[in-house]
Amino acid sequence: MEVIIKPDSHAASRLAARKIAALVRTKPDAVLGLATGQTPLETYDRLSELHRTEGLDFSRVTTFNLDEYLGLEPSHPASFHACMRTSLFSKINIDPARVFLPDGMSEDIPRTCREYEERLRAAGGIDLQLLGIGSDGHLGFNEPSSSLSSRTRIKTLTDRTRKDNAAAFGGEDNVPHHVITMGLGTIMDARTCLLLAFGRKKAAAIAQAVEGPVSAMVPASILQMHPRAIVILDEEAASGLKRTEYYRWVYDHKPSWQKD
Ligand code: F6R
Repeated sequence: MEVIIKPDSHAASRLAARKIAALVRTKPDAVLGLATGQTPLETYDRLSELHRTEGLDFSRVTTFNLDEYLGLEPSHPASFHACMRTSLFSKINIDPARVFLPDGMSEDIPRTCREYEERLRAAGGIDLQLLGIGSDGHLGFNEPSSSLSSRTRIKTLTDRTRKDNAAAFGGEDNVPHHVITMGLGTIMDARTCLLLAFGRKKAAAIAQAVEGPVSAMVPASILQMHPRAIVILDEEAASGLKRTEYYRWVYDHKPSWQKD
């Protein structure tokens, strides 16, 4: 696991966007795994800016999102379909036929989940999976106690996650209980995992995921088993880590060709 600590979320988001842009430049038909929530929004802004100012080309890129709430139409403003449209897809030249999110309105959930996995495989697998982390350590919507080798399936949100996401729904009571999410096994198949976390609210989850034992009770800790997991943090999210000096030294002494 590579841990990179940036002074703030702006610098961290710029670095994440640079890494994604570098991949898209070297592999124009890259397959990106995308996340929603607050954390990746500035990274998406930077990517839109790189498209606008430098012509970063997404026309052959394919995307798969991690998750979607069950029972929400893609037009619902709090759906992840809508979130992706407003934060990224409407601002870049992505081909809508190459954009995939789980279908929250599915009437045959096992089949929808199976087909999502099949589509992922047919696309050649994910080159880079962007991730946020829940304050309870969830990855995607794999809540504590999720199987560490799970595949795309229905999950039930914890009260804590429903509380964390209440603002988007105008109150906790309106947050759906169920979601479709890629499993931890699905996420671990990505060739690179890029986890972002900002703010003090994420410090405890990051400390457990990065330096604690691998455990289904902290689903993000499974990234310790990934051959290429990069964790980009701001100072506050890194504040619960014990080995920050080492992480900083490693990053500062990387050869420049390895840095982006
Ligand atoms: C979103 C997702 C979640 C979020 C996590 C953090 O697609 O899968 O795991 O990344 O809940 O959310 P924010 O970024 O809003 O703190």
